Amino acid sequence: MILNVNNIRGPVDHISDLEIIGDYSINGEREYYSGIKQLKYYKKPLNSRNVNFNLNLNENTIHKINKDVKLNYVLTWILENFDSLKVQDSKNITQWIQPQFVTYRGTLKNLLVTPYERYEGWIICASKFKGTIYLCCFDTEEKKQRELFRTNYERLCSDWGYKFEQYMLADTPDNEPNTSECLNQNEEFCSVFKSKFGQDTLLYSAELDGICSEQIIKDTIVGKKCELVELKTIRHHLTSKNGPRNNFKKLLWWAQCYPAGIERIVCGCKDTKGFVTEIKEMMTSTFRMKGEQDRCKSFCSGFLKEVKTIVHEDYDKCLYKFTYNPRKRIITVDKMKPDNESEYMFLYSWYIDNMKT
Ligand code: A3P
Ligand code: MG
Ligand code: MG
Repeated sequence: MILNVNNIRGPVDHISDLEIIGDYSINGEREYYSGIKQLKYYKKPLNSRNVNFNLNLNENTIHKINKDVKLNYVLTWILENFDSLKVQDSKNITQWIQPQFVTYRGTLKNLLVTPYERYEGWIICASKFKGTIYLCCFDTEEKKQRELFRTNYERLCSDWGYKFEQYMLADTPDNEPNTSECLNQNEEFCSVFKSKFGQDTLLYSAELDGICSEQIIKDTIVGKKCELVELKTIRHHLTSKNGPRNNFKKLLWWAQCYPAGIERIVCGCKDTKGFVTEIKEMMTSTFRMKGEQDRCKSFCSGFLKEVKTIVHEDYDKCLYKFTYNPRKRIITVDKMKPDNESEYMFLYSWYIDNMKT
């Protein structure tokens, strides 16, 4: 079956009722652990128009491990927090919130930008279990090849992005960022979100760069008053007051922030040598691109509707694979027999068996 991207249009739904319902951390070996150990606090530099951050100081950096974690983090979080995800229905029967979709924020970002994405394809696999559709992204062969043959400059840029985070974030509100500490690119702090998109309830987790808070957060950020911030680096001449000059980049930033309700982007303006000399804060609400954003939302709601129609068999009968080809502007749908050995399998018995009880 083939879907034409230009024809996928649904209502312009908005993310609403957005709630943070949990959090977890990823350690230096990219393993899940409960708690907010990796939470970081955004420290605005005193003179943000005149800083001098050398992003090349990476001798002690531990690079990101390429590990295929599939949906494991969010599934682990669900299992650990299952009891807190129960609600009473109209007949006073307690059952879990049963979202229509469970995924990562990255999947939503990829879907949102699809109408304007002419270069990077995606693979999204879908499995249905107990009425919920689980969506998991996979790299396309093209992307895997490109990762293998990244240029030195691309690798440098990637390291600079992580180093910039270290310059801007501290472990507690009272501390200053410590750029001489070993930087491990694998460590992450993640939040779990619940939201409404049209009629559907979505549950997804997302890596968060940092929060703004004068108070130290104890145990969890759930229910705490703190603003989330996204950090980005960008070449000087490519920024304007209203975000990146390049409209597609602006859309990418918005699509990454929007599902997590992030409004503030802290932008490090860098030169070609990896020096940041100015910090600009920008609010995604000032990005003037409503027409594009509406098209993104319309595509996303239309696509999720298609998914709900197509994905009707349970996880043990069928695994559905959606592949976006950006040049042909089509999405192909393949049905596959579930097979534990398949690279696309992502709902495992450790999850299913525990959710059945
Ligand atoms: P910049 O994009 O600011 O340069 P994020 O912005 O999503 O929090 O990611 C943090 C940094 O990780 C990025 O910083 C970039 O350096 C690196 N990064 C993220 N996605 C990447 C990718 N697909 N390939 C290479 N580096 C990536
Ligand atoms: Mg990040
Ligand atoms: Mg960032």
